[in-house]
Amino acid sequence: MPKHRWFRLSSLGLFFILPLLLGGCAFDNLQSALDPQGPIARQQISLLTYTMWLSAIVVVAVGAVMFWAMFRFRAKAGDDSIPVQSHGNTAVEIGLILLATVLTIIVVVPAVRTIFKTEYRAVATEEDVIINVTGHQWWWVFEYPELGLTTANEIHIPKGKRVIFNLSSADVLHSFWVPKLAGKRDLIPNQNNQLWFVTDENTPTGVYHGQCAELCLGAHAYMRFRVVVDTEEDYAAWVDMFQSIEPLSASTTPVIQQVQADPLVQQGQALFKTKGCAACHAVKGYAGGAPDKPDLTNFALRTTIAAGVLDNTPENLARWLRDPQEVKPTNYMPTLWAKNDPNAEEEIAAISAYLLSLGADEEEETQASLGGAYGN
Ligand code: CUA
Repeated sequence: MPKHRWFRLSSLGLFFILPLLLGGCAFDNLQSALDPQGPIARQQISLLTYTMWLSAIVVVAVGAVMFWAMFRFRAKAGDDSIPVQSHGNTAVEIGLILLATVLTIIVVVPAVRTIFKTEYRAVATEEDVIINVTGHQWWWVFEYPELGLTTANEIHIPKGKRVIFNLSSADVLHSFWVPKLAGKRDLIPNQNNQLWFVTDENTPTGVYHGQCAELCLGAHAYMRFRVVVDTEEDYAAWVDMFQSIEPLSASTTPVIQQVQADPLVQQGQALFKTKGCAACHAVKGYAGGAPDKPDLTNFALRTTIAAGVLDNTPENLARWLRDPQEVKPTNYMPTLWAKNDPNAEEEIAAISAYLLSLGADEEEETQASLGGAYGN
């Protein structure tokens, strides 16, 4: 078989195989922008759909003219004459310029309109929820300045409200992206970037997956987060879980949240300080931690460990404490136990029990209400 035959055959094969491969892509997977669940994402997808169909029409029209010309003006066997030349036809040239201008206008006008409607810099009002986001390699600080509340890697927002994110980075460039709710925006050191979105009555409550969308080395792909869209009541209860804890001060004695009677929890609480966890991780009311390390207040309320890498279960938490590098290569969490440390498993179990007691009396309800299509 001649070479060009093979080329034609393989091109034809690819033409039929490609759609099958693309068919494997799910439109509604957890981080799909093609499954919008909020007004901003919906406006963005309708702009995308509009321009895509327009492009498809252009491709089909241009292709049709091209194939028509190819077959209509094909050289006939034995005819070596030069066909009539139509280069420089004024009507065709002006027609094409006009067509291109019209096409550009009908693409640009809706695009610019959508940008102005969804991308302007919001001025905060009392109605808005404000969240200061700081990107770190490879996790997120989420601070609610109006509520005096700091958490990491998982935010709760009340359904129906506008949320304004003030974006900043502690190290390299990151990008904040919740594909089902809005587009993405970079977090840049020393620059006040902002992104806002709203949820509405068509936004199901539940967990939405977020992801750092700017290559930030090491564990970039594991720099995830969760956005939990709550009802007003659930959101208020979540906020209260933080605000009801007395902050640690010189005059207060450290408190253990919940399950105080459990000796394993008490052992874990002590180990949290003696093993050095408390030097980095804050637990409101008990440990000050460091501002550039994840705050573990109400840890049991979170759905994941290590910035969206593992579901927050006792087994996974033990696995994470045992060997953080195995779970999330290159991350900065140290291994606290030497190999063959005879006390390792007991201490890991105790610290896990302590962490999973933080905010735990709400856990059952929260975990149950987080189930469904947008759960883990
Ligand atoms: Cu942070 Cu990629």
